[in-house]
Amino acid sequence: MARASVSLSPARPSSLDSDAVLVVAAWKKDGGIALRGSDDAALVADLAAVGFSGKRDELVRLPNRSGAGSVAVVGLGTAEPTVDDLRAAAGSATRRLSGSLVLDLAPAAATETEAIAEGALLGAYRYDDYRGAGRDDSESDAEAASIVVVAPESDQDAIDRAVITTDAVSLVKDLVNIPALDLYPAVFADRVADEVSGLADVSVRTWDEAQLAADGFGGILGVGQGSTRPPRLVRVEYAPEGASAHLALVGKGITFDTGGLSLKPPVSMIGMKDDMAGSATVLATLIAAARRRIPVRLTAWLCLAENMPSGVAIRPGDVLTIRGGRTVEVLNTDAEGRLVMADGLVAASEEQPDAIIDVATLTGAQVVALGNRYVGVMGDDPVVPRVIDAAAETGETMWRMPIPVEMRPMLASDIADIANVKPGNTAGGMLVAAAFLADFVGTGPDGERIPWAHLDIAGPALNKEGGYGYVGKGPTGVGVRTLLRVAEAYSRA
Ligand code: BES
Ligand code: MN
Ligand code: ZN
Repeated sequence: MARASVSLSPARPSSLDSDAVLVVAAWKKDGGIALRGSDDAALVADLAAVGFSGKRDELVRLPNRSGAGSVAVVGLGTAEPTVDDLRAAAGSATRRLSGSLVLDLAPAAATETEAIAEGALLGAYRYDDYRGAGRDDSESDAEAASIVVVAPESDQDAIDRAVITTDAVSLVKDLVNIPALDLYPAVFADRVADEVSGLADVSVRTWDEAQLAADGFGGILGVGQGSTRPPRLVRVEYAPEGASAHLALVGKGITFDTGGLSLKPPVSMIGMKDDMAGSATVLATLIAAARRRIPVRLTAWLCLAENMPSGVAIRPGDVLTIRGGRTVEVLNTDAEGRLVMADGLVAASEEQPDAIIDVATLTGAQVVALGNRYVGVMGDDPVVPRVIDAAAETGETMWRMPIPVEMRPMLASDIADIANVKPGNTAGGMLVAAAFLADFVGTGPDGERIPWAHLDIAGPALNKEGGYGYVGKGPTGVGVRTLLRVAEAYSRA
């Protein structure tokens, strides 16, 4: 998809083109309206006249009293906005406006400029690759052609960072948006090679089905065997010279989840093309880190399979052998994510990284426990707190959840080392899944489990409701911005 371009201007332009929109922010103050970074009394009067109340996501558009174009005022919701309030205000505007946008949100520091540019580019995301050529143009989503951020010249680096970060988030959105008809494991694997080509210190290895069999990846193979479109495992490495820490990222990449023979009901199957969001997230994070030249070694593992029912699909009761030799009795073929992730976690562990973070649209129980906006984060110190701290800075909402000791015994199998579900159990489904994954995280040189965090993004990966702030309807790309910060934190550790 085409991306909106962003540039910096040290001052508000003295005049606007006829299709240009000047975007400013305002909030409610002592019963009146206050504008951020200006005291344009005529504009304040206009806002009062149209009943503007300054709430988050409120947007009014007025004629430009001082010339061509128009002025849009977005609600800040507060007199003392955090960086995420500014990010949201910028995105709230670009999400709904089209044309040439000039954002004058008066950043007071480079971090604020970065947040404004980030929010603006996130909100400007549109996806119309699948709209027909003969359509009436009015049906196409209005798009910001260009975005100018008013900020000091010295903030150019902040703008450049925002471009790299939001390109990565947009890559996740693009990959999730592609219908599963067109994005299946082999296509995804090829796309990975395309996306990283030309990036310094980045290399890719792909396992096809024969290589997966030769190397004992029974989880990925088993889940993928019901589909005519075979599975893949992709390892992407970014290894800059001088990196001291090594962080491994493992992503669930189910390009479509029908449930397999434990077939999902029709309504639950809608949206299941997003079941590869975790893989897209780990790929995009690595790409952004490589473009930023963050001095940390990253390996991203994409566990790609299509979960289909068929005459050659795995059955409930079948036993799969995960890489490394542990066996899993598959009692429900719809709990397939943990099967492919088990292979990925074992493979990642073999390299003994300093930490492993996995990202997966793993359980419907995540949505039951935390709703559609909070990512569930489970696992070990110090990696979980690092994720939670990073999330607080990015505005991605994440919440730590436990892996209670009673979960693992629920997965005892009559014939194999572990079962993939406890049939009929609905209690703490997200936590049970995490307990399953924990079994496949290997040990480090000290004999202890490699510090590991598990992010269940089942709900937050896709925004099914209307947009808000910089989040549009559809795929969100959640996780990328936080993981990028975690990568930075490891580069300093
Ligand atoms: N991909 C789903 C989880 C999911 C559900 C993602 C809703 C996004 C929205 C996963 O593979 C799944 O089907 N999980 C099962 C597990 C159950 C069989 C233990 C679930 O949540 O129902
Ligand atoms: Mn499933
Ligand atoms: Zn799934």
